[in-house]
Amino acid sequence: MGVQECKIIELPKMEDDRGSLSFVESDSHIPFDLRRIYYLYNISEGASRGAHGHKELQQLVIAMSGHFTIEVDDGGDKKIFHLDKPNLGLYVCPMIWRHLYDFSPDAVCVVLASLHYDENDYYRNYEDFMKDVKKQ
Ligand code: TYD
Repeated sequence: MGVQECKIIELPKMEDDRGSLSFVESDSHIPFDLRRIYYLYNISEGASRGAHGHKELQQLVIAMSGHFTIEVDDGGDKKIFHLDKPNLGLYVCPMIWRHLYDFSPDAVCVVLASLHYDENDYYRNYEDFMKDVKKQ
């Protein structure tokens, strides 16, 4: 498990003269059952989000509007992705430290998550994250 598993997933896009429609189905477009959706919006100029890791959580991160940058770090390797299309999502596997930044003023970041919110699943501190990475 590591950043090589963090990949852009292209979602279906149905286009006609009315506009575009995309959709996501659990276990079909994403490799997990969807349990939660949360979204970041009204993001303050220059603000960054994330800067934490998760033990078990899997996520698909989508720029539903605007654009932003996300860095994923497995404690050894890092990868940077620029998200800017509602039909593209970044799959983030467990045991990844992530940092989201460079949000455009109109950015809306939607996250599809495999688990309900659980503070015990978080690494809020990079040293704690690294300790568990080294144990694996
Ligand atoms: P946090 O995960 O720190 O935000 P981000 O990583 O996007 O910067 O969450 C911010 C606050 O919101 C924190 O108090 C926890 C709370 N929260 C929930 O209650 N439910 C959720 O599903 C999420 C993602 C956060």
